[in-house]
Amino acid sequence: GKGSYEHFMLKEIHEQPDAIGNTIRGRLNHQLDSTRLGGLNMTPHDMAKINRIVIAGCGSSMHAGWVGEYYFEEIARIPTEVEQAAEFRYRNPIITPDTLVLPISQSGETADTLAAVREATNKGATVAAICNVVGSTIAREAGRGVYLHAGPEISVASTKGFTCQVTALLMLAVMFGRNRHLGREQGAELLKEIASIPDLIRQVLKQAPVIERIAAKYVKADNFFYIGRGYLYPTALEGALKLKEISYVHAEGYHAAELKHGSIALLEENVPVVAMANAVPGQDKMIGNIRECLARHAPVIAVVSGDDHTADELADDIIRVPMSSRYVAPLTTIVALQLFAYYFAKFRGCPIDQPRNLAKSVTVE
Ligand code: M6R
Repeated sequence: GKGSYEHFMLKEIHEQPDAIGNTIRGRLNHQLDSTRLGGLNMTPHDMAKINRIVIAGCGSSMHAGWVGEYYFEEIARIPTEVEQAAEFRYRNPIITPDTLVLPISQSGETADTLAAVREATNKGATVAAICNVVGSTIAREAGRGVYLHAGPEISVASTKGFTCQVTALLMLAVMFGRNRHLGREQGAELLKEIASIPDLIRQVLKQAPVIERIAAKYVKADNFFYIGRGYLYPTALEGALKLKEISYVHAEGYHAAELKHGSIALLEENVPVVAMANAVPGQDKMIGNIRECLARHAPVIAVVSGDDHTADELADDIIRVPMSSRYVAPLTTIVALQLFAYYFAKFRGCPIDQPRNLAKSVTVE
């Protein structure tokens, strides 16, 4: 049941430190300064042969995949692309035995993602599924992969599913990285960061009352922009999706640099911009983008890190998440955006756990 929580979504948001703890448990290999993901069932030799990764998924799982693309390319230096699962299946994708296809699906039952698994298997790829539901169709058909162990996700809006997927992808990137160029010290540093995720998320959850107040302030807004760069670009897309699906308010997730190529025309005083202004690479550029929004009279809600005060004078409202590296920032930041969407939808009187027009798993194309 929901316990003392009013909605499953809120319960699952608060479960994230434990859920991520379960995704990590037993998988940090301090002897080798690497990670250990046994379900992948690949030898170091198998792993070394992989020269390309294709991630396929839908919705939040696709967004998690996008964060994964940054991890695999930066940490493991393996060329990676993310495909909407339906696109993957219908475009006759170029697949060789050295391609690792990673379908991502919380439920393990999404029709398009399952079709992508079958397409990739037929073409002779190595297929490893990242699923939460044990024994689900995608997990079974892939035959290898990583289980999240996040516990059941009931809310239609994915929360812990997403953060556990991102954590699993980070661990996979470390394992592939250590199999290649990534040094021991860097591996050890990344393990430390992974281990710190649950606590950092606990700190974000403590900000709930502040986030609730900010959500109340903007309750009349009917259009939002969410802007990010780098690792926080997919985070912006995911934050906007959360708002849309549970509050029925229009929100666009955008790359901050892309705004001025057209969409900035939409900004005005009734269109708040949620800006990922965390202290990570690209922050200076983001500050410039925030100024561009302010010049169009758009109110700015900035997500910032720790005691960094760079955006204080600029933003109308500030959501503080703990200081972290760029690798962990998508995780802390999305939890703040989940809470924002939750309270915003609640103030607008929306049903939250079962939004209109949506099903928990999309088993038709
Ligand atoms: O079960 P899956 O991860 O395959 O589901 C994919 C999407 O349908 C899902 O993430 C959807 O976008 C969520 N409602 C987002 O909150």
